[in-house]
Amino acid sequence: MSYLFSPIVIRGETIKNRVFVSPMCQYSCEEEEGIISDWHKVHLGTRAIGGSGLVMIEASAVEPRGRITPWDTGLWDSVQSDNLRSTIEFISKSGAVSSIQLAHAGRKASHDKPWKGGGYINSEQGGWDIVGPSAIPYDDTCGIPKSLQLDEINQIVDKFVKSAELAVQSGIKVIELHFAHGYLINEFMSPTSNKREDDFGGSFTNRVRLPLEIINKVRKVIPDSMPLFVRISCSEHVQNGWDLDDSIEFAYLAKEEGVDLIDCSSGGNSHSQEMKLFPGYQVQYAEAIKSNVDILTGAVGLITQPEQAEEIIANNQADVVLLGRELLRNPYWPIHAQKVLDGQADIADQYLRAL
Ligand SMILES: Cc1cc2nc3c(=O)[nH]c(=O)nc-3n(C[C@H](O)[C@H](O)[C@H](O)COP(=O)(O)O)c2cc1C
Repeated sequence: MSYLFSPIVIRGETIKNRVFVSPMCQYSCEEEEGIISDWHKVHLGTRAIGGSGLVMIEASAVEPRGRITPWDTGLWDSVQSDNLRSTIEFISKSGAVSSIQLAHAGRKASHDKPWKGGGYINSEQGGWDIVGPSAIPYDDTCGIPKSLQLDEINQIVDKFVKSAELAVQSGIKVIELHFAHGYLINEFMSPTSNKREDDFGGSFTNRVRLPLEIINKVRKVIPDSMPLFVRISCSEHVQNGWDLDDSIEFAYLAKEEGVDLIDCSSGGNSHSQEMKLFPGYQVQYAEAIKSNVDILTGAVGLITQPEQAEEIIANNQADVVLLGRELLRNPYWPIHAQKVLDGQADIADQYLRAL
């Protein structure tokens, strides 16, 4: 059996293989705010049938102003968690483990759908006032965020906690906290976007205070058996920005607070980032964190070939791979990859004649 298709046990969850669906916003909520639509149900269900071991629901906002667009999923009330239940059950019935990414878009919130240009929308255009650690916009097309007051920072922690509780109520099996890509928590972690002079800014210790508090409090309200993942941007790709050494140090602290897996992405916090894209361009981060911190890691970014994914796991560079766009193109990629690597594949009974 290949390494890629060997199961992995994380706390109380046994995941049948190491191909995970990377969280991907669909900007497809319809009538009501933050509630998943038929599009999401079919999209997520198809990827579960496709054979991925874990299916992660997109970045779901912990409060309305934490959405990237007005059409993002949210998880701040029980109507939203109730609506998630049938999709989560379907994912389980299809043999995959369900997961959700909890997020706050911070200064990158209040935008249009990408296929409508993706521009910043102000409150007159259906958007809202945005917040961040400091009043520094992401770029000159975005609005200027309001710098959060200390009591508002505590409220953000509470919102992540409430959202995690709602996720547990919905039947979800794994929670991922989104601390990457220049969204609110990443903005606090980075010295380029966080210029605060209080306990939440300045030194590394102060800048990671908010994410560590969120991890600590979320861990306390979710079952001991439930895996907790964190996605970080391991490098900001700018001079004097957050870098891999910071990520390694952060991963140590996150592990101490009960995080099980670091999902290793990069970039997204600076419009002047210089990022080189090539197959497996972020695997180096998963490998460095795994070997330095002794924590499970996930590799993501331009992983598209079965042999490439197999090598990453076999060479101990990461414990799992997360695929994004390749699984948009082909939700049945795991079935194809397993046939290539193992000569056979797990497939739904209904599809057996297609093997
Ligand atoms: C349509 C789309 C939506 C995305 N939404 C999210 C998201 O909700 N959360 C997140 O952490 N990353 C998001 N990403 C980034 C992906 O999860 C992934 O990290 C990135 O696409 C690189 O992997 P890939 O080369 O396999 O696509 C998104 C990417 C795409 C293409």
